[in-house]
Amino acid sequence: MKPALETVGKTMTTHAHSTPISPGGAATPNRPTMGPLALAATAAALVAPGKGILAADESLPTIGKRFKALDIPSTEENRRAYRELLFTTPGLGECISGVILFDETIRQKTSSGALMPGSLTAQGIIPGIKVDKGTMALPGFAGEKITQGLDGLRERLAEYRQLGARFTKWRAVIAIGESLPTAAGIAANSRALALFAALSQEAGLVPVVEPEVLMDGDHTLARCEEVTNATLQAVFAALFEHRVVLEEMLLKTGMVLSGKDCPEQADAGKVAEATIRCLRRTVPAAVPGIVFLSGGQSDVAATERLNAICRAGGVPWKLSFSFGRALQDAAMKTWQGSSANVAAAQAALRHRARCNGLAVQGKYSAQAERDHLAP
Ligand code: 13P
Repeated sequence: MKPALETVGKTMTTHAHSTPISPGGAATPNRPTMGPLALAATAAALVAPGKGILAADESLPTIGKRFKALDIPSTEENRRAYRELLFTTPGLGECISGVILFDETIRQKTSSGALMPGSLTAQGIIPGIKVDKGTMALPGFAGEKITQGLDGLRERLAEYRQLGARFTKWRAVIAIGESLPTAAGIAANSRALALFAALSQEAGLVPVVEPEVLMDGDHTLARCEEVTNATLQAVFAALFEHRVVLEEMLLKTGMVLSGKDCPEQADAGKVAEATIRCLRRTVPAAVPGIVFLSGGQSDVAATERLNAICRAGGVPWKLSFSFGRALQDAAMKTWQGSSANVAAAQAALRHRARCNGLAVQGKYSAQAERDHLAP
């Protein structure tokens, strides 16, 4: 088995040789008037101490899948009611700095008539928006995907800003396999991420740049680290080449983990060590924050590993979470689509948000997990 990373390495330096060489990364792009929060301040607020991001931006097929597993019909009204439940959770703003919305949700209203972004800002939470349009097969590269959504993005970003969004997210997917990923797969996705980020900053929105290395497969922790290293190097090379202002973005990445089906599962300490080593080698210190996705880990495992990573410290960026499933799973299961369960579901979400808020400070414990019913 020969991983494809030797070829991947060749993409890393190509930007430095492209001609003509211009001062990449140094330019200040044209910007609209920023309003109350400048981009760097928004980025800093999203990784404020003890706080992280709730990813509630499941596309229609993804939320459909999650609802179906619980026999909840995926109607527009159920999706609206569920997101209202999440966003109006009392005390959510104590541990949640921002919420990533989906296109349908940013246009919906709560039952009291408030637009969803307004219901978030009322809790001191910054509204964000997923702006990619999902993935398609990368032609010529079996098993690899490219994220779509650049066409018309400039116009969509202007509209999202009008609707109240202050940050954006674009997810690229990198699969690990015997001969995956390829240099071409990583390069195509890095280029798209960089264009997305540059367009977002131009529109006055903080880009959350998300190259997700999937945990599917039986690969080792070391292999995940190797692929994550190569991916992040290529992503930052592309961001630099496209003059993305590193101080005005966040990186969203997976933790470095053993593959889901790997017989040897690295413990939280090993995960923290590999994750921090990988990030130190690849992410410039100018980036204000790195937020982790949960990627299919159980909610408690994601919190334990986040805690181990954050407790280690000694890194130049703020570290936090941008969890979807690991924040929502318990709440969605508790809700079951019934208004009678709203308060209990909100308590479940608040509990997970608090546990992760503690983990960001390296203060999570088994006791904190047991304090579920504390008010
Ligand atoms: P998960 O935490 O469920 O992986 O979702 C995070 C996310 O936003 C993926 O794009």
